[in-house]
Amino acid sequence: MKNGQIWQDVDGKDIQAHGGCILQYRDRFYWYGENKGAPNCPSRNRVDVIGISCYSSGNLVDWKYEGIVLKAEPDPESPLHFSKVVERPKVLYNEKTNRFVMWMHLDSPDYSFSGVGIAAAEQPTGPFRLIRTTHPNRQESRDMTLYRDEDGAAYLIHAKDWNKTMNIARLNESYTDLDGTYVSVMTDQEREAPALCKHGGLYYMVTSGCTGWAPNSALYAVSPHIMGHWKLIDNPCEGPDSRKTFFGQSSFLFAVNQKHYLMLDHWSPENLQKSGYSILPVTFDEEGIMTVRWKDTWDGPEE
Ligand code: DGJ
Repeated sequence: MKNGQIWQDVDGKDIQAHGGCILQYRDRFYWYGENKGAPNCPSRNRVDVIGISCYSSGNLVDWKYEGIVLKAEPDPESPLHFSKVVERPKVLYNEKTNRFVMWMHLDSPDYSFSGVGIAAAEQPTGPFRLIRTTHPNRQESRDMTLYRDEDGAAYLIHAKDWNKTMNIARLNESYTDLDGTYVSVMTDQEREAPALCKHGGLYYMVTSGCTGWAPNSALYAVSPHIMGHWKLIDNPCEGPDSRKTFFGQSSFLFAVNQKHYLMLDHWSPENLQKSGYSILPVTFDEEGIMTVRWKDTWDGPEE
């Protein structure tokens, strides 16, 4: 698969799973993301909401389309109405309830609602049902991700105050709500597109700047505690086009066989349905410095 390009599924159709995430469940991987498979709506500078797609794979290269697992709704009052914003879906499996829980950025057409939606399903391939929308801890929420720690605790990481600050908010045991504990980090840094991982006992957060669909420099931050003091370190990308994140934007960090990978969206603003993807290896040196280098292809995880 050529990094930076739109990828095709096993049926040869464009993969529509933007702003996505990958969940490993039993021996399969599930990729959830925004289905943008229609022309841009000129008045809104984006694709009207279609829904959240799911693809599954045994090797992270051959992806089978599992359908739209959360669909746009025709009711104009619905938070999932096609005119609204449904972005960056992230899915976790909850061992206590045996359910799959999806959180996503939900917004009004002018991005003034700035909230999240929470949906759940009995199967990884859905159907997901929207449980509720909320403003986490009564605060704004725009770009967001979920992170599940080794102890099973899970966190919502969301940009607030028009992206000025990032909040890290702990979820309850069923992952379907917040438990009320949160911290505000990277105050006034104006970052979005958060993605998290853990390596060598440290938490890492990769973010992008805020330039709409245009690429900018990534930045990573580190903290010894997920709800601790995060320190901004540097741009993890190295080599040509590293100042523009290789013309991509972070969507997700995941690990397979103890190796970390960063997934990027390569937005195509004039025709978002043709936006590409890349998956790049992430390395850490002995001092914990994180590096992401460009690779022309994604051939699956290293053994
Ligand atoms: C940048 C965000 O990261 C994307 O998810 C999307 O909301 C675009 N902005 C819209 O311009």
